Amino acid sequence: MIEMKKNTVLSGVQPSGDLHIGNYLGAIKNFVDMQNDYNCFFCIVDLHAITVKQDPKILKTNTLEVAATYIASGIDPKTSTIFNQSSVSAHAELAWIINCVTRMGWLNRMTQFKDKAGADKENASSGLFTYPNLMAADILIYKATHVPVGNDQKQHLELTRDIAQKFNRDFKCENFFPIPEPIIDKNISRIMSLKDGSQKMSKSDLSEYSRINLLDESDIIIKKIRKAKTADTLMPEKIKDILKLNEINNLLNIYSGFTGIEKQMLVEKYKGQNFSNFKSDLSDILVEQIKPITSEIKKLMQNKDYLLEILQDGQNKANEVAQKTLNDVYDLVGFIRNET
Ligand code: TYM
Repeated sequence: MIEMKKNTVLSGVQPSGDLHIGNYLGAIKNFVDMQNDYNCFFCIVDLHAITVKQDPKILKTNTLEVAATYIASGIDPKTSTIFNQSSVSAHAELAWIINCVTRMGWLNRMTQFKDKAGADKENASSGLFTYPNLMAADILIYKATHVPVGNDQKQHLELTRDIAQKFNRDFKCENFFPIPEPIIDKNISRIMSLKDGSQKMSKSDLSEYSRINLLDESDIIIKKIRKAKTADTLMPEKIKDILKLNEINNLLNIYSGFTGIEKQMLVEKYKGQNFSNFKSDLSDILVEQIKPITSEIKKLMQNKDYLLEILQDGQNKANEVAQKTLNDVYDLVGFIRNET
């Protein structure tokens, strides 16, 4: 039996490519910080990954790599439940019910679908369109109260809240699903591309120089920071002037995110200087913080049996909670359940 602490956290990461420092600062670092105070479920969302084409063999490796990244970043599999989404079938089953609760108009407003489907909407998978319903199912099946995510997931979280409210109202079960709170850190919830401070750092950006991956070697990190776009000025003295320089603001957010030092303090330290000292200090910090994570991920990836054991254990724990919610949902909706 899982010990139920007061509040429950669920979050997930797609196994759709190498994870970068945006995923780390925006999401995974918060998972680590929350794990002792909440009952935590950290999911590897393989069902979401296949909303766009994946190579099946690479998908399996990427799934293990996300599990390894969770553990290498400091998530303790003994306290938190780590599992892959497809191994707990209740996610997909609840998603179907949610497909019948969510209104088309709500999904039509989702900007991530528009971004991901691009100009060729007719050719996008229908899974990509209903993606937010599955995400709501991930959260609601554990009756999660808190969801740590990056800023790009904010709209999906708002939709989840609407879905929870509509379900509770439609099936006359007030408070059945708690209304989940997004946990989004103001400064590090949207880490931007190192090449263009107006674009989000993303796994799918064609340029490797736009992001720092958690599996990057130290010399690559140093090179990427050296090449990162800055500005034709010196480091401004005032935060309000920094905010006008997207690339500088982003590098300061990264520095602050990894060290916990307030941005204002960093500005005091580097104001009036060109960016070379700042960049060199930033790469030292990134190398120092990322190197242990990288080597732990690599070590864990050599021990696939251990990772599979963690996922199996996570599946058992998650399934227990998810099945209970699903049974209650089926009953509320009016489905006959066999007792066996
Ligand atoms: P995914 O796999 O795209 O990203 C994983 C997490 O990383 C955050 N993130 C960022 N944070 C800051 N700056 C960035 N540049 C950046 N890029 C990504 C994302 O916001 C996310 O928190 N739909 C989700 C996965 C998901 C999920 C869920 C999350 C599925 N079900 C239920 C929470 C709850 C996604 O595609 O994340």
